[in-house]
Amino acid sequence: CGIVGYVGDRSAQEVVIEGLRRMEYRGYDSAGIALVRAAEGTLAVDKRAGKLSNLEKSISEDPLPASTTGIGHTRWATHGAPNDVNAHPHLGAVRRVAVVHNGIIENFADLRARLEADDHLLLSETDTEVTAHLLELQVESGVDLTTAMQRVCQRLEGAFTLVAVDAQDPDRVVAARRNSPLVVGLGEGENFLGSDVAAFIEHTREALELGQDQVVTITRDGVSVTGFDGVPAEGRRYHVDWDLSAAEKDGHDWFMRKEIFEQPHAVADSLLGRRSRTGSLQLDEMRLSDQELRDIDKIIIIAAGTSFYAGLVAKYAIEHWCRIPVEVELSSEFRYRDPILDYSTLVVAISQSGETADTLQAIRHARTQRSKVLAICNTNGSTIPRESDAVIYTHAGPEIGVASTKGYTTQLVACYLLALYLAQVKGTRFGDEIDQIMGQLEQIPAAIESILARADEVYALAHEFAASTSFIFLGRHAGYPTALEGALKLKELAYLHAEGFAAGELKHGPIALIDDGLPVFCIVPPQGRDQLHDKMLSGIQEVRARGARTICLAEEGDARITPYADRLVRLPRVPVLLQPLVSVVPLQLFACELATALGHDVDQPRNLAKSVTVE
Ligand code: G6P
Repeated sequence: CGIVGYVGDRSAQEVVIEGLRRMEYRGYDSAGIALVRAAEGTLAVDKRAGKLSNLEKSISEDPLPASTTGIGHTRWATHGAPNDVNAHPHLGAVRRVAVVHNGIIENFADLRARLEADDHLLLSETDTEVTAHLLELQVESGVDLTTAMQRVCQRLEGAFTLVAVDAQDPDRVVAARRNSPLVVGLGEGENFLGSDVAAFIEHTREALELGQDQVVTITRDGVSVTGFDGVPAEGRRYHVDWDLSAAEKDGHDWFMRKEIFEQPHAVADSLLGRRSRTGSLQLDEMRLSDQELRDIDKIIIIAAGTSFYAGLVAKYAIEHWCRIPVEVELSSEFRYRDPILDYSTLVVAISQSGETADTLQAIRHARTQRSKVLAICNTNGSTIPRESDAVIYTHAGPEIGVASTKGYTTQLVACYLLALYLAQVKGTRFGDEIDQIMGQLEQIPAAIESILARADEVYALAHEFAASTSFIFLGRHAGYPTALEGALKLKELAYLHAEGFAAGELKHGPIALIDDGLPVFCIVPPQGRDQLHDKMLSGIQEVRARGARTICLAEEGDARITPYADRLVRLPRVPVLLQPLVSVVPLQLFACELATALGHDVDQPRNLAKSVTVE
């Protein structure tokens, strides 16, 4: 999750460890370093599960040689548990090349199988290790590390930042990026690589931004950039005028805002590697057989907080695509109501942290009743996935802001994947329909990007409504969970009274709350679903007639909404079941901006904890 590379005159060990420390805020579960021993043409590597202090302790007990070229990494596990072996750097077969990597290499299983067929022994469960072997094969054949990187990248699918060193070419560090961050720090007689500028900001503020599909080579005295095809390219040079805390937040004022803006990437990463070579869907740790899944006649989703709302969305998708009944239950309520469970019930536990005590106790109860448990989780190796029969990992990367944003949207992705996977196994949807929906999901990162590009419009609304003390959120169908999540975000961050309702339920009570000037967010379903859209329109008219100020989130081209919207936020056009992935984004931006305007600590709201490990 954090990457550092260095070549210069200083101790590479010190520069690398310091850089990793500066990126600790990003969260990680293991750390490692590789240094080039120039005189001997060998590598010295140390890597440890756990905190950076574990690695430092190990180095102090068994010191590394002096070196001025090195790479380092803090890992957030995606493929394989967080342990010493899976920690980066990874080495090739003859320990000549070391590599650190962020991202996901989608076709690693295929590459690994080919390497193993050629008698390569791979030691870890990671997707990274194959790249070390492939790079080493190239340099052993006589090409330099830069050419090796270009050639290997052409064979990789997915998203990645790779940084590598070659023991026999001690003054060169080579890196590559595709859809994953990498910046170059430009020094005098030294150069740096980092996954963000925090890695080197204490040494230099001159930086070079790389484009997609580029390879960069740094030496003491120079930096050169090419495409994966070897054609020379140029990075964009810029001066970093942020202080360290802004650097950690990528220039944003809050981690939460940074994480909101990371969603296109997080969603794309969570979709990567989900299709096998034959095109069918595959899930990471689906330890349940097709037959076991076909035997399932009921699903109960358990989760807490924001994860619970992801579960509500999952119900719409699973029931529609798979025709399996789904209940969604708060984990804190679950086992106390003596739920009806047996071997044909699949319990799906959604937990970003994988440690929420309420959810953990609920799955333990489910397992005593012989139910199968599938976890949707963002933290590899945490307790809930460890105690589950199957896991779908979201690839949001660590989330620092207490209020979940990219954690939530990636959970939604995992829920859709689960629904499609069940539909595939149960045969309720055919391959081409599944392909079509996967294709629609793959458009979502760009759709979210288009909302983020207009964040200023939402910020202006937040300032306009900053004096309001009460907000209502209305939604129908898959828009209902979005209404609940929009309200929760405002409660969590701005400490304001905010409530989400199913729009149809409004007339059965909540409408009594509507008063002159009350802001009401209305999440309008896409137009194709006419009944839903019409019903939503009536709801909006009802609140407006009673004095509410309506803030409507409606798709591009929806002209019917215009007369009833006091304020309008346009959403990109997406299918109704996928709309929660885009409609939540303006609500996250709104809550973040409003809380900032009110002077609250957005990253650490009062009374809340990121992971609640007590019942
Ligand atoms: C805490 C957090 C919430 C989160 C909930 C569930 O209360 O403050 O933001 O949604 O826990 O967390 P989980 O890790 O299980 O998704």
